[in-house]
Amino acid sequence: MLSMDGVSKTFFPGSVNERRALVDLDLRLDTGDFVTVIGSNGAGKSTLLNAVAGRIPIDSGRIDIDGTAVNRLKEHRRARYVGRVFQDPMAGTAPDLTIEQNLSLALLRGRRRGLARGVTKKRRVRFADELATLELGLENRLKAKVGLLSGGQRQALSLLMAGFTHPRVLLLDEHTAALDPQRAALVTTLTGRIVEQGGLTTVMVTHNMQQAIALGNRLIMMHEGRIVFSADEQTKKTLTVEALMAEFGKIKGATFDDRAMLG
Ligand SMILES: Nc1ncnc2c1ncn2[C@@H]1O[C@H](COP(=O)(O)OP(=O)(O)OP(=O)(O)O)[C@@H](O)[C@H]1O
Ligand SMILES: [Mg+2]
Repeated sequence: MLSMDGVSKTFFPGSVNERRALVDLDLRLDTGDFVTVIGSNGAGKSTLLNAVAGRIPIDSGRIDIDGTAVNRLKEHRRARYVGRVFQDPMAGTAPDLTIEQNLSLALLRGRRRGLARGVTKKRRVRFADELATLELGLENRLKAKVGLLSGGQRQALSLLMAGFTHPRVLLLDEHTAALDPQRAALVTTLTGRIVEQGGLTTVMVTHNMQQAIALGNRLIMMHEGRIVFSADEQTKKTLTVEALMAEFGKIKGATFDDRAMLG
């Protein structure tokens, strides 16, 4: 479904600021696989997602989604394949548009031109149904501007928007990090539900080890642009925070946040 072969990316090559963000990276996901990605700051996690989404060009290697070499496609042409939710709740939605307008845009995203724009009656019913599953009461606020929603509500909405277009690959980059513990827990639960219902192939970056273990069927740990530890479905079932900590400990010079470890 998603395969990355020998993908490398260096920022500012040959300068004093040179950063090797991805180093000859291989990753292969089957349809419905849900991999969580952990690693210290600057490990290359976001770069990995940006490479898949086409936000940044890669230097070498190949990225295939469903047999299509997407690394040759521009970011907007990949929108059909890729859905994503960012860490920043403000990033995924348009604040000046209403909830239903945002949902309409999500529906149109990546579709062929010619599909009617705007909010039809039929769509409105569908939106209300989808929103009701979030259990945040948003189904009664279809005409409210998204800018009025809380961060958690916006993240839940972003997730719904990313999910209901049925992307081949869903990319989540610390999408619960900016939320309070209660909202983070809600969005985490939603994530599991939306991914499962849609059978979505998913890559989720998180600094929360508990969450990295709880969600998905696979896990990778990155360091300095490489995958330094990988747990398959079987291994992941018995994985503990302590075991992950031990793996982290093996990486010389790796540092990370104590609170995130305990999360
Ligand atoms: N657009 C960019 N321009 C220049 N350098 C970049 C860019 N994006 C990332 N980098 C560099 O690439 C390396 C990997 O960054 P990346 O954002 O992928 O790390 P990360 O694992 O997501 O870290 P964090 O946990 O802090 O989000 C870092 O050294 C970073 O400074
Ligand atoms: Mg990042």
